[in-house]
Amino acid sequence: MDDAANGTSRGGQSAARRDLPLEATGDPHRPTYHLQPRSAWLNDPNGLIHRDGAYHVFYQYAPDAPWEEKQWGHAASPDLVRWTDLPVALVPTPGGADADGCWSGSAVDDGGVPTLLYSGLRANEPWQLPCLARSRDGMRTWEKHPGNPVVAAPPPGLDLTGFRDPRVWREDGAWSMLLGAGVRGAGGAALLYRSPDLVTWEYLHPLLEGDAAAEDPVWTGAMWECPDFFPLGDRHVLLVSALDGSRANPTGFRPFLHHAAYFSGEYRERRLLPRAGGVVDHGGHFYAPQTLLDPRGRRLMWGWIWEGRSDEAALTAGWAGALSLPRVLSLTPDGALLQRPAPELEALRGAHHHVGRTAIAPGEVRLIDGVGGDRLELALELDLGDAERVGVAVRVSPDGEERTLLLYDRMAETLTVERDRSSLSPEVRRDTRGGPLALGAGEPLRLRVFVDGSVLEVFANDRLCLASRVYPSRPDSRGVGLVAEGGEAALLGLDAWAMGSIREG
Ligand code: FRU
Repeated sequence: MDDAANGTSRGGQSAARRDLPLEATGDPHRPTYHLQPRSAWLNDPNGLIHRDGAYHVFYQYAPDAPWEEKQWGHAASPDLVRWTDLPVALVPTPGGADADGCWSGSAVDDGGVPTLLYSGLRANEPWQLPCLARSRDGMRTWEKHPGNPVVAAPPPGLDLTGFRDPRVWREDGAWSMLLGAGVRGAGGAALLYRSPDLVTWEYLHPLLEGDAAAEDPVWTGAMWECPDFFPLGDRHVLLVSALDGSRANPTGFRPFLHHAAYFSGEYRERRLLPRAGGVVDHGGHFYAPQTLLDPRGRRLMWGWIWEGRSDEAALTAGWAGALSLPRVLSLTPDGALLQRPAPELEALRGAHHHVGRTAIAPGEVRLIDGVGGDRLELALELDLGDAERVGVAVRVSPDGEERTLLLYDRMAETLTVERDRSSLSPEVRRDTRGGPLALGAGEPLRLRVFVDGSVLEVFANDRLCLASRVYPSRPDSRGVGLVAEGGEAALLGLDAWAMGSIREG
């Protein structure tokens, strides 16, 4: 098995071991309202659960540079707005089934006992195997099950290229578990298990098998990481993250991490019959999403937003990675995934500026007076008029030398993040990423744009999401502007808010 398919070469570039600051401050690229630890490395959201009035988010955390050995970081919030750091939940046990890393997994409430199922990594073993830990003190400390791993090997008779990331839920009086896998020569798979007690597991069959050669409805590669599975409306949704070291990878972060994909459809006889599917986020920086069901019955999703600069640059800054904003999920009647930022985030809004209806004549990006910043939310509607392209620019320097453009192309029916001028630094990613967005007749382009240091998170008409990263080099790259090309467009209205911080203390 090659290292990339197995995910064990996660560190990518070799960087020297070094001490990191306890708190990575002073880096203007660091977000303030996207969740992350105080310093060091974050990747996948893990173990999402709502308990005793609080949202708990765990995440892949690597405090030790070059951040290869994974622990579980932990933060909690009563309201999705104010977050408190809690003690690290899981660290590798020397000689144990997770001696070289506590990798991704999920949380369940087992009759009042919070229980984590996660992937134990042992460097010389071919597989990351499911391990169990319980907390009896309100999720402060965790006891690992003495019999870990709780699954000793992948199902016999399957020739796998990967096997990890347990996702557990309760169904029909027993526990169900999915493991992400890759079947050699075929594609990704989500393998379904059952258990009476979370400890003894029986393999049933794949919930769904992928085909690495298929492009329709979405390409999902050689192996599926981080599966998640849940009912949504009158259907079921499977989320997977596509790992494939053999295909050219435009995301450029790691050669084998591509994108998160979803399938929606009918769940029958413990198999998913997909009717629709797609890429979860087209920004090229979003991976390994996981969801939770909250007490209000909402399905909330967080994903990992990775860096657009080198590991070396991130090590120098002392931190890497952020979680996306919590996104509320729903489906269209056709089974397409809709995502909206959780409305609670409106509590982070500060100073407000409103701009009313304004014509946008064709030409260069024109700055909007009085609107700008590097921690912002923008909510705007644009009427395409007779323009061929229309867009909004953020992080614009006064002379336009730096700017990041969100551009809608009417003919191509795409929304893209144009990063070619997003930074003067040659060291950061500046390629264009985007995805399809067909607007109905007379339907305006409705954008929610979140700027948070280097994090840019965009929701377009609730149905296209773009998580991106930009690293402007100039401190005055703070402007917001509008542009139309090939004809005149109109701004129907824009609200801009300065955004606060989610960190307590
Ligand atoms: C996905 C992933 C998971 C694994 C974790 C390790 O990003 O590779 O499959 O559990 O990261 O940090």
